[in-house]
Order: sequence, then C-alpha cells, then structure tokens
Amino acid sequence: MSKRVLTTESGAPVADNQNSASAGVGGPLLLQDQHLLEKLARFNRERIPERVVHARGSGAYGHFEVTDDVTGFTHADFLDTVGKRTEVFVRFSTVADSLGGADAVRDPRGFAVKFYTAEGNYDLVGNNTPVFFIKDPIKFPDFIHSQKRDPFTGRQEPDNVWDFWAHAPEATHQVTWLMGDRGIPASYRHMNGYGSHTYQWTNAEGEAFFVKYHFKTNQGIRCLSSEQAAEVAGQDPASHQTDLLQAIERGVHPSWTLYVQVMPAAEAADYRFNPFDLTKVWPHKDYPLRRVGRLVLDRNPDNVFAEVEQAAFSPNNFVPGIGPSPDKMLQGRLFAYADAHRYRLGVNHTQLAVNAPRATTARNYGRDGLMASNSQGRYAKNYEPNSYDGPVETGRPLSAPLAVSGWTGTHEAPQHTKDDDFFQAGELYRLMSAEERSRLVANIAGSLSQVSRDDVIEKNLAHFHAADPEYGKRVEEAVRALRED
Ligand code: HEM
Repeated sequence: MSKRVLTTESGAPVADNQNSASAGVGGPLLLQDQHLLEKLARFNRERIPERVVHARGSGAYGHFEVTDDVTGFTHADFLDTVGKRTEVFVRFSTVADSLGGADAVRDPRGFAVKFYTAEGNYDLVGNNTPVFFIKDPIKFPDFIHSQKRDPFTGRQEPDNVWDFWAHAPEATHQVTWLMGDRGIPASYRHMNGYGSHTYQWTNAEGEAFFVKYHFKTNQGIRCLSSEQAAEVAGQDPASHQTDLLQAIERGVHPSWTLYVQVMPAAEAADYRFNPFDLTKVWPHKDYPLRRVGRLVLDRNPDNVFAEVEQAAFSPNNFVPGIGPSPDKMLQGRLFAYADAHRYRLGVNHTQLAVNAPRATTARNYGRDGLMASNSQGRYAKNYEPNSYDGPVETGRPLSAPLAVSGWTGTHEAPQHTKDDDFFQAGELYRLMSAEERSRLVANIAGSLSQVSRDDVIEKNLAHFHAADPEYGKRVEEAVRALRED
C-alpha cells in the first residue's frame, strides 16, 4: 500500500475522510462506520491530567559538557572527565496557571534537566529562583491552593495569595525575589536556573559534600516590567514557547554555564544558619561558585505532547555520586513527583522515549501494568534472586550515609545561630539599585493593595518591615496611597 494512503489505526485503508457513512442520502449515521467511531472516540481521549503545578511548559534536547574537574567532590560518571558529553532534555515552565495560561506572567519558572547518563537518568528539577516560599513540604498543597485559581471565583485571588504569605514569614525572601525585576523573565533563554535545594555529592573516597547548583544563562538576563509583560501576554500568550522554538529552529542554540557551591559535609552542623533551609541562599563569599560545565539546547522535540507533556522529571532520580540532603522540602519532593507521574502518565511512564534511559538500559523485575511495552526479554525471569543470570544489586551505596539521632516526631528545623526568616530578604532589598527598589515596591503595593482584609495587609507589611525598615516603610506608604485612591 502506498505511503500516501490514509489508514485506520489498525492499518486498513480509509475510503472517505470527508463524509460519514449514512443510511441513505440525508439519513442517520451507521454504527458500522469504523473510521468515524474511531476518530471521535480517540479525540475524546486526547487530554490527560495536566501537571498540578508547572502545567505550562516548553522543552528541548541538547547536551551537557564537562569543562572543569570536579572529581574531588563527586564520582558521578557523567561528570568524571573534562570534555565528556551527556545528552539532556530540559523542560522550562511557569508554575501557577493551567495549561492555557500565558507565559509572560509574574511567577517563578521551572528549570528541569534530565541528564541521560550511562549510570541512569539524573533529574535536576529546579527553578529560576535560588530559594522557595516555604521550608516544609507539609505546607505545599496549602501554598499552591492559595496561588492557583480560587475554587469559587475561578481566578487567582490576591486575598488568598497574600493570606498565605501573611502566615508564612519564611516566604518574605522569595516574595521579594518574585516581585522584583527577575519576577518576569523575558524568555526561558534569558534566565538562570538553580537546583535551589542543597544536594549531596560523594567522591570516590566516600567523602561527602553538600552542593547547590547554579545554571547561569549565557544569553544574559532579560526581564519584562509588569506593563511590558501584560502587552506581550496579550499579543502572544505562548511568548516563551515561541522564543525557544524559533531560536533553536534558526540555529541559535541557548546555553548555560553550570556552577556549584560546595560545602564539606562536616561544616553543615555549625554553619550560622541551617544550610538545608530552602528559603536561604549560601553567600558566595562563604562558598564561591566553581564551574562544572556547559548546557546547550540544540534540538526541538518533534511532538510537544509526546515529549514535553509526557516528560516526567523526579528529584528522586539520582545516579551514583549524587544524593539527597536532609532538606525537608527535598525529602517531600522525593515522593511527590513519581507519584504524580503514576497518576498522570501511568506506571509505565519510564518506558516512554523521553523518559527512558538512553545511555544505558533499565533492567529490573518490574513488569506488566497499563501500556507495558517493554518485555525485558523472552526468558528473562520476573523474580529475584534467580538462577538464570538475571540482574543483581551492586552492594555499593549510591551516596554517603547521613548521621541522624533523636526521637521521631513533628520537629521544627534544627536551630542555628542566625536562622531568622527576614535577614536575607533585607540583604536582597539592599542589593537593589534605587530604580529596582522603586519597581519592587510598586509591584508589591499594586498586588497587596487589592487585598480586602486589613489584618492580612498588616501582617504582610510587618514582614517587609522586619526585612528592612526602609523597605517596610515604602511598601506601607505605597499600599496606603493606592487604597486611598
Ligand atoms: C512539578 C510537587 C517544590 C520545581 C511538580 C509536580 C508536583 C510537584 C506534583 C508535577 C509533576 C508532574 O506531574 O510531572 C512539589 C512539591 C514540592 C515542590 C510537593 C514541595 C514540597 C518544588 C521546588 C522546585 C520545584 C522547591 C524547584 C526548586 C518543579 C518543576 C516542576 C515541578 C520544575 C515541573 C517539572 C516538569 O517540567 O515536568 N512539583 N514541588 N518544585 N516542580 Fe515541584
């Protein structure tokens, strides 16, 4: 049969793709019209659940190349030789809105990287911000509910957004970040990416280090003002997708330089603040950036649904030499993602091309389930141990052990000497130029002044005052001026 013949899903030729089969001219349609039934039924099943957060995103393939020796800190295979290249898939995203939302909005951006390494896929699922709003995963569903559409009004509500923050002083640093100039990147190419959490690296001698990842854009940082963003979002809601797709199609390949901050594990306990607190950055003067390599994106996916919508990144996909830290948020995320994937994509989502290992093969005793397409060999046994040369464990831990002590229970994070929720928000404010501060204050006031309850406004103002007296005073004055209008 010629390649130009249209077929049904079972491969039979289709006689007519313009007219449904009917009982006589003008009569009702026939149940025997297989092509019509198949077409309508498949159409009804085209959508799958969207991601509960980061629903809207764009993806691209490329590679990561090691430029500097980091073998003193990790024995991860893909980082073990300068010049070594590893294929990657990256998905960028906005967080709060649903699939139909606009790209040019004030919102953090997701920055998720899948490294297809020879020792399995390593997923680094970060954001374009080095910190986050909360520090315990038990708050995450409440936080996200307050930022997404309200169940009654169907809109994002400033009342909910600021009510949550009124009860979360630890969010002040990230709120300052979000409301500042970097809160609306001009495109995915023009923003940095951060692993945000502290992770653990282990070297070949078994020594442990804590690390934070920084991807610095080589395109330069570019941001939009609130007014510019409103215009861009109106003209092209998919502005970030357009930019990334077209740049790569034109042969303009975006790149980022990866750096890490490295803390010897023994220094963590006595550091002046909790180094596993996701609402704080590590000052570069304490832990300078060390260059690791270069991330380049040079190929668009052939099909957005198959490769971007069905991409599944999990912070729990580690490779030998890299592991989790005791950051509570990270620990919560180690569960959340693969669980979301089983719901959103099914238990066999790791068999989809974008998610399957590329530089190695998955070999285990997991079998069957919905849409299984990988039999793992005719005589391969589906139990272990076995007498048939099936795959066996290595006996080598993937990362170094963590020492723990104490009683089980719902504890607050361990106290360090300088753990308050505000000082880094104040430092960020003081780093800004006069113009940046003015835009920050205007952005906050524009949103906070829409809140209906005075007590919620007062609690939020108290956070800005605690960060920096000038910051608090200016936001307070700007909010009052807008509410008196
Ligand atoms: C997506 C949960 C915090 C970055 C998701 C998804 C869930 C989730 C369920 C959807 C996954 C999917 O359907 O594929 C959580 C929980 C968190 C948390 C429970 C806190 C306890 C964070 C933080 C970051 C982050 C701190 C960044 C540092 C991302 C990114 C995606 C995502 C980039 C999109 C991944 C993709 O492109 O497919 N999160 N998240 N999340 N999250 Fe989180």
